[in-house]
Amino acid sequence: MEKIIINGGKPLHGEIEISGAKNAALAIIPAAILSQDVCVIENLPVSISDVSYMMKILKHIGAKVKLLSKNSIEIDSRHVDSYIISNDMTKHLRASYYFIGALLGRYGRAKVAMPGGCYLGTRPIDQHIKGFELLGATVSVEDNAIVDARADELIGSPVYLDVVSVGATVNILLAAVKARGLTVIENAAKEPHIVDLANFLNSMGADVRGAGTDVIKVRGVEHLHGCTYSIIPDQIEAGTYMVAAAATQGDVLIKNVIPKHLESISTKLIECGANVEEFDDAVRVSLSGRPGKCNIKTMPHPGFPTDMQPQMAVLLALADGTSIISESIWTNRFRYTEQLNRMGANIKADGQLAVVQGVEQLKGAPVRADDLRAGAAMLIAGLAAKGTTEIEDILHIDRGYEDVVQKLRGAGADIKRVFCPDANTLTSAG
Ligand code: UD1
Repeated sequence: MEKIIINGGKPLHGEIEISGAKNAALAIIPAAILSQDVCVIENLPVSISDVSYMMKILKHIGAKVKLLSKNSIEIDSRHVDSYIISNDMTKHLRASYYFIGALLGRYGRAKVAMPGGCYLGTRPIDQHIKGFELLGATVSVEDNAIVDARADELIGSPVYLDVVSVGATVNILLAAVKARGLTVIENAAKEPHIVDLANFLNSMGADVRGAGTDVIKVRGVEHLHGCTYSIIPDQIEAGTYMVAAAATQGDVLIKNVIPKHLESISTKLIECGANVEEFDDAVRVSLSGRPGKCNIKTMPHPGFPTDMQPQMAVLLALADGTSIISESIWTNRFRYTEQLNRMGANIKADGQLAVVQGVEQLKGAPVRADDLRAGAAMLIAGLAAKGTTEIEDILHIDRGYEDVVQKLRGAGADIKRVFCPDANTLTSAG
């Protein structure tokens, strides 16, 4: 078992370099098998565990994966020979279900166990299934556990999504790029990683237009070819360090970002009294004095991202005044507030609403990372709090934050990862 230990209360100062976007990578990796060729993926956050799990699945179905450098891999999918992916492969992460769309697109057949992923409330896949069926696939869900989808031929179709879903938009895109004729996805998700996936598919010879708007048009093509593609910077990783800079009353230059993708986060930080300076591919965030309050409502892009909600709650927990957080995407995304309250925060969460009464200081405490972004919130709280914070269950943090301890140390944090053979003996793990 590993833990992260932080001696907090020190402002972050310096520079932090952002890695490639996890959620773009998780869509692009399965998309590569649509090409029956060789793709090189650059700026890939290779060392996060979600990416490792996706690479394991690729190998399991017969693709060859070669590490070219710290952040680039080659995927040779010429010899992919299976459409079956079992639960021991899929259970680790949500995005494993992108192999349903990708395998359908490649073979017209996919038998993929239900995905895992963070528990944020109910996570239905009805819109994915509706999309596959509209494209001509027959889909059954065996024992509520395995999705079996087959199609003699996929045929383009209009698909109207009843809810704006990132996952359904990705999966339908993957199935549609080689379908015969035109698919029009209406009420599509507009997140930066949807645009990145569309750009990757187009680099392989697909014809996808409109990504980034709520109508995406896909004209099916017969063949896709290999390509070299560099993934966009991670919007949520960048946002996490932006909030960490503000919550510790520090001053950090966050490099390798697309400032446009960070606008909803920057706006809220400015509302809380932070300075946010934008450069071509960097943002500098600083705050002196106590943050001010502000209200947050999570929305699909370009609204405030739900994946930044727990991190932002830490800043608001320290704010002068009372803030309201309204979570409109997930039904159960406030579990982390219990951990923050152990550190002295005063947050009352009820259903999809939380009332955050700011306190002057948080105190270090033993806490748990309930899920990936809850873990990010614990990191920020530990950095801002006076005293020592020990974070358990950090495997959740490892799913999405590349080199997090090194990056924070580089900005002056007193943070380490320790290996604990048992709860009483802590040994340094670097
Ligand atoms: C993705 C992100 C996740 C983020 C979320 C919202 C990845 C790997 N994960 O998750 O980190 O929190 O977007 O930005 O990219 N829904 C349905 N039916 C469906 C699909 C979704 O009702 O078939 C609902 C969900 O319950 C939720 C909403 O739609 O209320 C949005 O979900 P969705 O955008 O699909 O989230 P994910 O793709 O799972």
